Amino acid sequence: MPEVAPGAAPVALCDSGELAERGRALVFDVLEYGRPVRAFALRVDGRAVAYLNRCAHVPVEMDWNPGEFLDAERVFIVCSIHGASYDPATGRCAGGPCASGRLVPLLVTERDGKVSWYPSQDIRPAFVEEG
Ligand code: FES
Repeated sequence: MPEVAPGAAPVALCDSGELAERGRALVFDVLEYGRPVRAFALRVDGRAVAYLNRCAHVPVEMDWNPGEFLDAERVFIVCSIHGASYDPATGRCAGGPCASGRLVPLLVTERDGKVSWYPSQDIRPAFVEEG
């Protein structure tokens, strides 16, 4: 699990009810080393988890359709490019060309019906200017 940046405050993601068990993921933007990348949050076995949306085989986004990461049986995260599969609870490669790789996790918390994530040294919130 990534180390939380010193003094980092949790970043609100969504209401708990928006993440259905092994349902559609919430896709959101973050900055990794200052560069924009996407991340996604899922509920797996009752727990909210989040990873960067980047395959360990080739660094590309994995969803079949926006927010759709799971296979037909809703067991594994499957990359839409070459079919690498990942354990959604741990992000570890479970088969296919990701070999011993794993997805990059974000630290997620859930409290009072709200899901949030914590920035690390490398992964920060992406703020969108409004107005
Ligand atoms: S890019 Fe994901 S399996 Fe090849």
